[in-house]
Amino acid sequence: MSNYTLAVIEGDGIGPEIVSSAIRILDKVAPGRFTYKPVIAGGKSIDIHGVPLTDEAIATCKNSDSVLLGAVGGPKWDTLPGHLRPERALLGIRKELGLFANIRPARLYPVLKGACPLRQETAEKGFDMVIVRELTGGCYYGERGRKQDADGNTIAFDTETYNQTEIDRIAKVAFELAAKRGKKLCSVDKANVLESSRLWRERVHEIAKSYPDIALSDMLVDNAAMQLVKNPAQFDVMVTANMFGDILSDEASQLTGSIGLLPSASLSNTRCGMYEPIHGSAPDIAGKGIANPIATIVSVAMMLRYAFTMDAEAERIEQAVDKTLQAGFRTGDILDNGTTPLGTKAMTDKILEQL
Ligand code: NAD
Ligand code: IPM
Ligand code: MN
Repeated sequence: MSNYTLAVIEGDGIGPEIVSSAIRILDKVAPGRFTYKPVIAGGKSIDIHGVPLTDEAIATCKNSDSVLLGAVGGPKWDTLPGHLRPERALLGIRKELGLFANIRPARLYPVLKGACPLRQETAEKGFDMVIVRELTGGCYYGERGRKQDADGNTIAFDTETYNQTEIDRIAKVAFELAAKRGKKLCSVDKANVLESSRLWRERVHEIAKSYPDIALSDMLVDNAAMQLVKNPAQFDVMVTANMFGDILSDEASQLTGSIGLLPSASLSNTRCGMYEPIHGSAPDIAGKGIANPIATIVSVAMMLRYAFTMDAEAERIEQAVDKTLQAGFRTGDILDNGTTPLGTKAMTDKILEQL
């Protein structure tokens, strides 16, 4: 049996707490299959090395079969200049590894309908969607800076740029995913205002010609934000630009009960991807041992499936999470049933028992 190397970035805030939970689960479903290489990045790297991401950290990620990340960032580093902030580590890894496709599934666990903040009849219908977020373009990577105008007024700018190649490749990922699911793709943009969105829409429709079986629709992002709350069941796969996907996926996460439930996979055209929860370092609960570990645990399931075709192991993890929730165990963020909330470790213990 092959042995894989996994670069592990615990990160900041709740990062170490949730990553240790996920590793316990991984060791149980795939004992001895993974060698862990700890990587320091984000705030911790700033404290130790003075920069958020070192060449050595990048090299370790590149030389591994996959990367598992908790989260980076926190108030301690919030006043540093942009290029020295912890979040730059994340942007750097995404770019260096070519992780252009961010897959963010959002489904309502049937047993968590009571934790969904939507109208009861909307929650009752449930939903199961995947947001495909472009991850290495748009205003996250466009030209940015500050300058003074002739009157001495300070100007700050961040440029939203997309080229045809970037749009085509993310569109293909989304169409391929839709083909394996409900055969519906909604492309979300702001084509009524942004030129980059108009190119986005043109290219998505061009790529659509190769996928005649997929029902493609376009939606403006402001409407999409509203439709998610009105009727999330209408969505199967959604594809959108970097910043729109960031915002809409946090919105979708809360519809499932908590951001502490949503996993993600960041993929390139090679096997090595990065797997992480969509949430951040949650400084408000860091160190308290109460973070929900499920998002990170199911990110590991995504990794097993996407990177290593270990589908059976991935399913075991997902089923163990399902059963644990069905048995009524809850962390504080998804408390819908009046039980005493479990902490991170106790919840992980319950999931391990189901494996
Ligand atoms: P956040 O996602 O960290 O937290 C938002 C809210 O959700 C908080 O109330 C938090 O307690 C709660 N929450 C998040 N994860 C949870 C979990 N697993 N269980 C229970 N509750 C959870 O977003 P934020 O507060 O805007 O950002 C905090 C820091 O994290 C910032 O520095 C931000 O840049 C960074 N961040 C990092 C990543 C990443 O590394 N991938 C992602 C998002 C934000
Ligand atoms: C995410 C985060 C990051 C993003 C930040 C921390 C740079 O919010 O992964 O969703 O905006 O992509
Ligand atoms: Mn985000």
